[in-house]
Amino acid sequence: MNAPNMKSTESIPLVDLATQSRMIRDEVLRRMADVIDHGRYILGSEVDEFEGKFAEYCQASHCIGVANGTDALHLALRALGVGPGDEVITAGNSFAATAFAIAYTGAKAVFVDVREDDYNLDPSLIEAVITERTKAIIPVHLYGNPARMIEICEIAKKHGLKVVEDAAQGHGGEINGKRIGSFGDIACFSFYPGKNLGAFGDGGAVTTNCPELAEKLRLLRNYGQRVKNRHDMLGYNCRLDTLQACVLLTKMQYIEHWTEQRRQVALWYQEELQDTGLILPVLPQNARHVFHLYVVRHPERDRLMASLAAENIYCGIHYPNPLPTAAPFHDSVTYPMGLPNCTKFATEIVSLPMYPELTREQVARIADSIRALNLVEAKV
Ligand SMILES: Cc1ncc(COP(=O)(O)O)c(C=O)c1O
Repeated sequence: MNAPNMKSTESIPLVDLATQSRMIRDEVLRRMADVIDHGRYILGSEVDEFEGKFAEYCQASHCIGVANGTDALHLALRALGVGPGDEVITAGNSFAATAFAIAYTGAKAVFVDVREDDYNLDPSLIEAVITERTKAIIPVHLYGNPARMIEICEIAKKHGLKVVEDAAQGHGGEINGKRIGSFGDIACFSFYPGKNLGAFGDGGAVTTNCPELAEKLRLLRNYGQRVKNRHDMLGYNCRLDTLQACVLLTKMQYIEHWTEQRRQVALWYQEELQDTGLILPVLPQNARHVFHLYVVRHPERDRLMASLAAENIYCGIHYPNPLPTAAPFHDSVTYPMGLPNCTKFATEIVSLPMYPELTREQVARIADSIRALNLVEAKV
């Protein structure tokens, strides 16, 4: 306990996994002991059980567990028949995996700029880049904020395109009460440890309402096998581990509670960071933002991060470079030329500490440290 006027110097990480892991440790170990005993380490009954629960959570008819979020995206595009000669439209500010998955299929990524208010794919820019080669659109629910799925799905329908949601950061997000994971043809989730629903290692899933796509995805993740040693199509080894399913099944019981805690932390930040000069997230009216990350903006981002780090408060940047700057995408199409918003935001965004167990006092301390910097008011 600190004396009343003594400023805490306790470290505040960007993400804290240890507290939650300690809380669920015994239950996870019990479930894992069952797996060690029954011995079905690959596609054991825990995987089926998790798939059922996660499909229900996403309000989707089917869930197929896969090895990670990148594989989820890759298999989703394969299941939709995307390949060489095709183009796939996505946002220019995602994690590299979104674009890598497109490249794995041999298709070309076409990057579109993002909106100023939610940092997500701007639907008003999409039609300008649709060509006869366009096959699909991948909106990304970046930071846990649902992308404009209603507008995007309308555009896709009008032009006969498929929609794959990159929901790696969006577990539990909603638009008008409908869950992320049930809007597009296929939605792709990551269970990387730091995600809102994270495994103790890699994991991922796809959800869909289409039984034919579900069947194809099950084959794709398991060497094209419907029955053992009969390979009906070219498949891959992209299965969700039974041991990771144990972790995910345990965490599913708390996901809603943890999500509400994240949303509460975000509200504390919104209150505490008024008048600090930062541009704060715009809270969506008709959507449930699940705050995988709490991202603010300021032109003096680097000074802000260095000052907070000097006080043991650790931030991140998601992501420091627009996707077309990555070597595999140097010859990609961007719209508008050079992605002005993505490029500007990449130099200004900073992810403040965000995890369900962050306390009001910690948020207040972070805000005090930011206020002490006397940042000039950032212009939108
Ligand atoms: C937006 C986005 N897409 C895709 C991925 C890839 O997921 P994974 O790391 O599980 O392969 C991630 C996370 O890492 C992500 O944040």
